[in-house]
This record gives sequence, structure tokens and C-alpha cells, in this order.
Amino acid sequence: IVKKDLLYKGKAKEMYTTNEPNTMWVHYMDQVTAFNGKKKVQMEGKGQTNCEISALIFQDLAKHGIKNHFIKQIDSNNQLVKRVQIIPLETVVRNFASGSFEKKFAAKHLMKFDKPVQEFFYKSDELDDPFINDFQAEALGVATEDQMKQMRAIALKVNDRLKEIFSEMNIDLVDFKVEFGMDSDNQLILADEISPDSCRLIDRETKKSLDKDVFRKGLGALVPVYKEILGRLEKVEDVK
Ligand code: C5P
Repeated sequence: IVKKDLLYKGKAKEMYTTNEPNTMWVHYMDQVTAFNGKKKVQMEGKGQTNCEISALIFQDLAKHGIKNHFIKQIDSNNQLVKRVQIIPLETVVRNFASGSFEKKFAAKHLMKFDKPVQEFFYKSDELDDPFINDFQAEALGVATEDQMKQMRAIALKVNDRLKEIFSEMNIDLVDFKVEFGMDSDNQLILADEISPDSCRLIDRETKKSLDKDVFRKGLGALVPVYKEILGRLEKVEDVK
């Protein structure tokens, strides 16, 4: 497979076309950003750990019947994925209060929810990714009612499996974000990445964050934390 043109450069990844029309080449960059790009740092090894973590998780989800865009790993920083039309929504699932939920409602930090809380945010840098509900998304033509339903259902399945995986790593899954796209068969599938950039993870023993909050809150070096996640993930029997 041959990498061709840069189609899109995001905050953590570059997407290239390839000689196969339905296959994209994703390069995970050694860059980390927070607060809608206002905080940005280059970090050696960050792209590699996220690329590998995301690959392991997507492969595991596929084994558990959750369709996603991952095709294969090329090398440490690069992978092939199916070309999809991204639905410009961030689908968030929360198991414990943190981040924007905690702030918005002055909720107790890490209060455990009886059932997962689902939220959608509209992907827009100019608007700072505002909260969006199903009616608003449908009115704006961002997604159909059926797509919203499918995204909700799949996100809950992802939550169930991720909770199992992280539990085996002695980690609580606080919350995470996923994105979806439509593939060439017009099927809605999971896309983007699943990594410590897009999840909140708390070590059950030390109660320390093992995710991008380390960077957001300036709690120390990020790459060693991501390497710790990769190391534990590789030891999970069903995942490796
Ligand atoms: O900030 P908030 O509490 O809404 O984030 C919920 C989850 O979504 C967190 O795991 C965070 O890392 C993730 N997220 C993301 N990309 C964004 C916003 C949030 O991956 N642009």
C-alpha cells in the first residue's frame, strides 16, 4: 500500500489517502494538545504509544462484534484504516463525574453513576465543541435519528467492553469519547482513536490519573504514563 496525499491534519493525527480508494493512512503525531489546542507540546514517543494502544483496542472491539475503521498497523506510528465520512459529533460516555460534567453541575469529583451518562458534542473548533442534543443534531442535519440511536447503542457496548479491559488493568474507566463515520457501504462504524488522549483512567490503587489529565493539569510527564497503559494493556489475556 502506498501513502499519497495529506487529506487532513488534526491536533494529534495526520490522515493521508493511499492508492486504495477506501483505505486511509493515519500517522499519529508526537504532539499533545488540550483546551481546544490552546496548550500544545511536542512529545517524543507519544504518537507511538497512542497508535499502539488504539490498534489493540480497536482489534479487541472488532473481536467483540463492534465494527470499526481499523485495518492494520503499518509501523509504530502509522496504521491503515477504512475511509469513512466522519459524523461531526463527539460521543461521550461517563461512568463517574469528572471534567466538563463535574464543572457544569458542580458535581462531586468521581461520583459514581448508577448508569452510564451519554452526551454528544458538536465538533467545531470555532464554537469550542458545544453540547448538542439529538433534536439539535437532527435539526442541523448533523445526524439522523437512526444514526443517533445507533451511536448511543454502540457507545454503550464500547463502554461495557472498555470497562472489562481496564478492570483487568486495575483501572477505573471514568469517561471516554468516540467518533463515528459512515463507510463506503453506508454502514455506521466506530472511527478516530481510542487512547488515553480520549479516555479518563484512574488507577484503582494509587487513585492517580493515567490519561491526558496529567497533561491538562500539569501533573508530570505524559509519555511514561501512556507507556504504563500500553504495558498493562499488553498483559490483558484477551487483548494481546
Ligand atoms: O471534557 P469532558 O469531561 O467533556 O470530556 C469527556 C471525555 O471526552 C474525556 O475522556 C475526554 O478526554 C474526552 N474528550 C476528547 N476530546 C475532546 C473532548 C473530550 O477526547 N475534544
